[in-house]
Amino acid sequence: MSEPAVTNPKKMTLPEFAAISTAGGRIVMVTAYDASSARLADAAGIDVILVGDSAAMTMLGHDSAVPVTFDEMVMMTRAVARSTRHALVVADMPFGSYQASDEQAVVNAVRLVKDGCADAVKVEGAGRTRRRIRAILAAGIPVMGHVGLTPQSVTKLGGYRARGRTAAEALAIHQAARTLERAGCFAVVLEAIPPQVAERISASLAIPTIGIGAGSACDGQVLVWHDLLGLTTGHVPKFVKAYAALAGTIETALRNFAAEVREGSFPEAVHTYAMATGEFENFEAGLREAERRDGDG
Ligand code: KIV
Repeated sequence: MSEPAVTNPKKMTLPEFAAISTAGGRIVMVTAYDASSARLADAAGIDVILVGDSAAMTMLGHDSAVPVTFDEMVMMTRAVARSTRHALVVADMPFGSYQASDEQAVVNAVRLVKDGCADAVKVEGAGRTRRRIRAILAAGIPVMGHVGLTPQSVTKLGGYRARGRTAAEALAIHQAARTLERAGCFAVVLEAIPPQVAERISASLAIPTIGIGAGSACDGQVLVWHDLLGLTTGHVPKFVKAYAALAGTIETALRNFAAEVREGSFPEAVHTYAMATGEFENFEAGLREAERRDGDG
């Protein structure tokens, strides 16, 4: 059976996205990787849902963003898009899905849009990536850029450390962000850079900047779902603010469930299904009849 089409009657458009910051508002972006999270984010009025390759760590248990496969990203993007009525859905192009050639980048971006139902894709870096961005845009797919700390290149960058803390690095990131704007990106993520640098970059770009660990002067902010909700159990970056402590809440709920099952206090009558009057007596009579026939046979 074919799946129902994903219909988004009041879907945010790119002009509406751009208008948030030109009207003086701030763009709110959060990652999500599955249908129920996307439904909650959409209901909360989040502007952009990013199906980030951080899923490699938050959902799949890897210790970096690199191992998530393209098919895994398509599956998660489709689950998110299926439950999103309003927010813009942006899918990360995972490591290895756009590095080889412009053609590879276009084929994979098209798949994220056609099979994953993403509205746009995100790519990291500005060097060789600039050509890929142009190619993807020429195929009619909007692209979000990402500079500063770019998790797909942490090995090359020397780990998860802030970027742009020296003048030379700050200039390079500023230059990269401008390159992304010229290449045609509709927005750019600035990750883990000093706030003064992010402020200067934001002031010199006409497209919105979305910060994560980049201070408050950006045109918007993004956080990873698990960090924002207090679900991250390992290291939490300095720039994270947890707006809930769900890991503890969930663990307590699971402990209570386990205790009630073990002591026999769950389920209660209220959690069960009733039979119509007389049906149980008929069932027992049927059993007796079946047993009698088995005995005869
Ligand atoms: O993959 C991700 O979650 C991201 C955000 C940190 C911007 O790229």
